[in-house]
Amino acid sequence: MPQPPTPQPSPRTADPGVLLVDHPAVVDRVTLLRDVATPSNVFRQLVSEVSAFVAYEALRDLAMSEVNLNTPVAVGVSFPRIDETVLLVPILRAGLGMVQSIQELLPLTRVAHVGLRRDEITHQSDVYLNRLPSDLAGRRVVVCDPMLATGGSLAQVCTLAADRGATNITALCLIASMPGLEFFRSVHPSVPVACAAVDPELDSRAYIVPGLGDAGDRLFGPPD
Ligand code: PRP
Ligand code: URA
Repeated sequence: MPQPPTPQPSPRTADPGVLLVDHPAVVDRVTLLRDVATPSNVFRQLVSEVSAFVAYEALRDLAMSEVNLNTPVAVGVSFPRIDETVLLVPILRAGLGMVQSIQELLPLTRVAHVGLRRDEITHQSDVYLNRLPSDLAGRRVVVCDPMLATGGSLAQVCTLAADRGATNITALCLIASMPGLEFFRSVHPSVPVACAAVDPELDSRAYIVPGLGDAGDRLFGPPD
């Protein structure tokens, strides 16, 4: 008798704090994201779709509670609903492309924007906007940035959140570089990272290789 396949745990890399979401439907979309011929409107749609898949896998532990309801055929039955508000923290600009589909996935979300700009020479990021609430103790914080290159931007935002009391932070990306992921995990070992691909290296401009190029520019166009 052929045996049914053994259920596999969610896909993970060797680091248990890194969740690699590599379902074929995700990998296929990431391939299109990488293609320089993919136009901006399709790129935006793909970023949105892959973001929802990554969030779906990463947020399996959201708190649920029972609600009482009537179905058309049973009265007073109890079923679970999500009972946790997620504070989405998109890192501007590119993180903005991840927000809408995750909001559509979850019933309870708030959004706090943080703006960072990476210097082209030093590759260090400067904060130009910080709308994080002053007290993040007890809040579920989900930082969104499609690209984890050196890991500096993501680490900086997680530090800003931790400085305001956040102890439950999750990072969602689309593509992470291996060195950036290692750096990020060394700075924030308690922050799990979920991504759709891990690429091997960075180039001399600290772009992810093979990557997908400049996510902000592909989503919104190059700055004038
Ligand atoms: C990009 C990207 C990340 C950051 C990643 O943003 O969206 O935020 O670089 O690089 P890192 O891991 O080396 O810090 P960028 O500063 O280009 O701004 P943009 O999103 O406005 O284009
Ligand atoms: N930011 C991007 O948008 N892409 C990279 O490859 C690195 C930083």
